[in-house]
Amino acid sequence: MSDVRKPLMAGNWKMNLNHFEAVAHVQKMAFALDDADYDACEVVVLVPFTDLRSLQVLVDADKLRIQYGSQDISAHEKGAYTGEVAGSMLSKIGCSYAVVGHSERRQYHGETNEDINAKALAALANGITPIICYGEALEVREAGDQVMYSLDQVEKCLAGFTPEQAASVVLAYEPIWAIGTGLTASPTDAQEVCGATRGWLTDHFGSEVANSIRILYGGSMKGSNVASLMSQPDIDGGLVGGASLDPDEFVAMARHRLLTP
Ligand code: 13P
Repeated sequence: MSDVRKPLMAGNWKMNLNHFEAVAHVQKMAFALDDADYDACEVVVLVPFTDLRSLQVLVDADKLRIQYGSQDISAHEKGAYTGEVAGSMLSKIGCSYAVVGHSERRQYHGETNEDINAKALAALANGITPIICYGEALEVREAGDQVMYSLDQVEKCLAGFTPEQAASVVLAYEPIWAIGTGLTASPTDAQEVCGATRGWLTDHFGSEVANSIRILYGGSMKGSNVASLMSQPDIDGGLVGGASLDPDEFVAMARHRLLTP
């Protein structure tokens, strides 16, 4: 966490919560959060496509400061792409963010770094901030190659980006072995890759851009470990799966400033 980058706590609901449940969940969060919380930390929920319209109506009507976004975005602008959702549709429905390249989409849908690069550019073209996910599998970590592997993903996902485009993304380091397993990277392990990522960004886009980009950590982040992870200099927030499905816990995580590392 740094003074120059506003922390971002993003809940990735994955394939959970229908639109009725989504409204109740966000209302519960909104009831607990106040302006001081939003001033200190951006609070975002990344939800199934079918929840978006209901959240737009709720957020607009009650002028909530909670932001929302999608878990994927098409690389294409329109046309014969059955099942896909275009960036223009997501921006029209008020999405601020879109997750791209989550490891579950890499694993189950064969998404490549090149696909993710195109999706991130599609998000930016539509005024949506892509949250670009990267991170190594267990065997890569066991071989000690986590930094090299992760930076290679970042390089490919950001290939061809101008410094201005790079400055508009959020990165999320999510070591696959820590996702949904209860195994969290230690603050030192997470910082190793996030710090190396910032170094790479500095080399390629300059220190001003690198220092403005938020790098999130994801992988079994929860109320009991958020403060120690957030105390690391290059961790600027969380991409939270399971713990974001409990509104009380997620609110406490958004308020990590009040917790002791
Ligand atoms: P968990 O917090 O459930 O480990 O999930 C992390 C994740 O994949 C967020 O995108």
